[in-house]
Amino acid sequence: MGRLKFKVLTSCETKETITFGKSRAPTLFFSSMGSTSAGLALIEFMWYNNILETIGNTPLVKLNNITREISATVLMKVETTNPGNSIKDRMALKMIEDAEAAGLLKPGGTIIEGTSGNTGMGLAIAAVVKGYRCIFTTTDKQSKEKIDALRAFGAEVIVCPTNVEPEDPRSYYSVSSRLVKETPNSWKANQYDNLSNTQAHYEQTGPEIWEQTEGKVTHLVVGVGTGGTASGVGRYLKEKNPDIQVWGIDTYGSVFKKYKETGIFDKNEIYPYITEGIGEDFLPENVDFDVIDLFEKVTDQDAALMTREIARKEGIFAGNSTGANIAGLLQLKARLKPDDLVVVIQHDHGSRYMGKMFNEDWLRERGFLEDEKLTAQRILRARGDIATVMVDAEQTVLETFNMMKSMNISQVPVTQQGMVVGKVTESDILEALLDRPSLKSAMVKEICTVPFPFVDLRTSIDKISSLINKENQAVLVEDEYGRIAIITQYDIINAIAK
Ligand SMILES: Cc1ncc(COP(=O)(O)O)c(C=O)c1O
Repeated sequence: MGRLKFKVLTSCETKETITFGKSRAPTLFFSSMGSTSAGLALIEFMWYNNILETIGNTPLVKLNNITREISATVLMKVETTNPGNSIKDRMALKMIEDAEAAGLLKPGGTIIEGTSGNTGMGLAIAAVVKGYRCIFTTTDKQSKEKIDALRAFGAEVIVCPTNVEPEDPRSYYSVSSRLVKETPNSWKANQYDNLSNTQAHYEQTGPEIWEQTEGKVTHLVVGVGTGGTASGVGRYLKEKNPDIQVWGIDTYGSVFKKYKETGIFDKNEIYPYITEGIGEDFLPENVDFDVIDLFEKVTDQDAALMTREIARKEGIFAGNSTGANIAGLLQLKARLKPDDLVVVIQHDHGSRYMGKMFNEDWLRERGFLEDEKLTAQRILRARGDIATVMVDAEQTVLETFNMMKSMNISQVPVTQQGMVVGKVTESDILEALLDRPSLKSAMVKEICTVPFPFVDLRTSIDKISSLINKENQAVLVEDEYGRIAIITQYDIINAIAK
């Protein structure tokens, strides 16, 4: 606890009563002073004792644009104000506190977990404050930003292959289980089956939503990974009002939806997917299928594109699973009525996806972007079918110069046995000949410089332009037929001007 502080309030301030639920955040008490209605506010403390005390009490924000086609009111529970920028801080701290209380995690111990990043971040922050060491295993599917962020807090991170069965000794589940056996004084958080995860949301997130909506919430839309958020918040809300609907958002490639609908665990439902944080290839203990009324699957493309749209239309920088939640909600919009009050969970922050959903080239490489922007392919199409002039590495400098002059070109790729090995420009030839006139009969490979960079047909004009500079006045691209084409500054300007 920090310092106690009193403040004299005006009459208008005393009309307001502010409550913060069961939070650890500063609590304001208002007391009216007789008929004057002026009052004294006791602000319980003026600072937090450590960063862990700032977890929770996250804002609920109305969405105004992205959900325009939905008749109901839609609110987003913005969990990125937690210190680790995700909802997982809540359950990470709760799992640690419960393990400490049960004597499973002892002073100086090591926390081990298989985590896709956000739980790791919550555990790592709590470990710094409480003096534990952290070792995390994660998959090579996870964004680099998430892994680097864990390392920023001093955690050790082991990256394991994604496309192996959970029982495979190389999987991130198996590696973390092995580490816990081999590391003295260690504890595995096991977010999937550790019910402190669900309990954290039952004790904190659920009551916050209930109080913030004054009990008017009718629907909860939540991504399901470990299941802790959906099960904990859902259980609390349903205890308050059994009519509240809990809609779990799932991915294609995950087993949840089919299991809920048929009771069958179907291995055929399992295949690799891109969406991060939601869906699973097994049934975690934290998924309470009785609390979740339905599962809605969202494609990787819809989740990725919606993630961008939330930033563009609401100014909220949300992660990939939040995109899936909104896309899923829009898929289900026909089930909503104007009086409904929907709460959608924003699980984490967009900054963790800068190299993915917020990178147009990444989206384009996966075929997720219907091209509104110019790409290498569209630049080539705009230019028409022109064969690329190349020069063989063993041609002489003079022959090369004469060929370039006759064809009116200022730069040319140099090839050897069909492979691009370099480039030569008019100024390279001029410089070489001024320096040593005898070089005119030397092979062009003697004076050529590094090749033009290669790009993909889907590479954006922005990326291509960034690669073109004084030393590199063009890029190369393999077209649909495997032929090498050259794109120059001139082609780019022409394509833009069309
Ligand atoms: C980004 C993100 N979204 C959603 C989830 C799913 O939440 P839960 O594990 O509580 O089901 C996770 C869990 O790892 C996550 O990291």
